Amino acid sequence: MSRDALVFYSPVDDPVAWREALAKELPDLDFRADPEVGDPADVYYALVWAPPDGFFGRFPNLQLVTILGAGVDALLRRDDLVPVKFSRLSDPGMVALMTSYVVFAVTRYARDIHIFERAKRRGEWEYVHPRALSEIKVALLGLGELGGPAAQTLAAMGFTVAGWSRSPKTIPGVTSETGRAGLERVLAGNEIIVCLLPLTPESRGLLGTHELALMPKGAKFVNASRGAVVDEGALIAALRSGAIAEATLDVFETEPVPPGHPFWELDNVLITPHLASITVPSLAARDVAESIRRVKLGLPPLHEVDPGRGY
Ligand SMILES: NC(=O)c1ccc[n+]([C@@H]2O[C@H](COP(=O)([O-])OP(=O)(O)OC[C@H]3O[C@@H](n4cnc5c(N)ncnc54)[C@H](OP(=O)(O)O)[C@@H]3O)[C@@H](O)[C@H]2O)c1
Repeated sequence: MSRDALVFYSPVDDPVAWREALAKELPDLDFRADPEVGDPADVYYALVWAPPDGFFGRFPNLQLVTILGAGVDALLRRDDLVPVKFSRLSDPGMVALMTSYVVFAVTRYARDIHIFERAKRRGEWEYVHPRALSEIKVALLGLGELGGPAAQTLAAMGFTVAGWSRSPKTIPGVTSETGRAGLERVLAGNEIIVCLLPLTPESRGLLGTHELALMPKGAKFVNASRGAVVDEGALIAALRSGAIAEATLDVFETEPVPPGHPFWELDNVLITPHLASITVPSLAARDVAESIRRVKLGLPPLHEVDPGRGY
């Protein structure tokens, strides 16, 4: 008899934690962690991160693919997926982790901590007079599930905050910009730029030599979305010349960043290994379960991805 099974695949997420979290929400769900898949025809749902090429071709009855995260760019470029519904996750744990990363990266620059880190390495007491947070202009590129709350939190902390998105937003304390002219205003008018744009055909390479040159001299750049939104060669040149003073990078075109890559040599770049935010199974399982219930009823899943739009 056919069973309603979910296949789980992730090189980084814990299948035991997900099995337990989903069992609380959907006790009847048949959870199968790859490679223990059984009869592939039983599989109606997939919960995955970075599955290998050809992974989906085995499952003739797949109806819903949920990505274990927010970025769906790699999933939408695959050729082994038949038209199914796609959803991404957006749980409070993921939002809180991303907000904490953005607050850390922005505050580190706003409070000159990067200068004190270097002074400590030199064994020097270096005083830099603090500035009021309201004097520090920060912009978020992308005001979605992750960028929106991060922008709102920075505004609540007292920073002067602007944001850029496809559609206009009403977020307390955040100036909303849209369109090409809005992007150029945001880049030119802010000292710290944080990128939280999804990687789509439109955003790939969006921040190139021209765009980076719009940023004020000595600006700081934080990228926590996808490496390929930025032209890394142009970013490296700007960081070498000092046009951009500092960068905090969590994401890269090639991950892990290979040995000998220029980013490793640049003293003004802080590298973190793509962990600005992760999904927390105990908090995200409710949404995964609800999406499965909805798809069973013929309804769209939660946080449905629009493949045409790319996010
Ligand atoms: N480093 C990490 O650990 C990590 C973890 C999770 C996610 N991420 C990355 O973070 C990205 C953002 O996540 P999210 O959940 O906030 O995404 P989201 O909810 O899909 O929001 C995307 C935002 O970008 C805007 N946008 C998209 N394309 C645009 C364009 N061409 N021009 C202007 N604005 C555009 C959207 O505008 P509208 O609101 O008008 O649609 C929206 O505000 C993900 O796609 C993923 O790549 C990274």
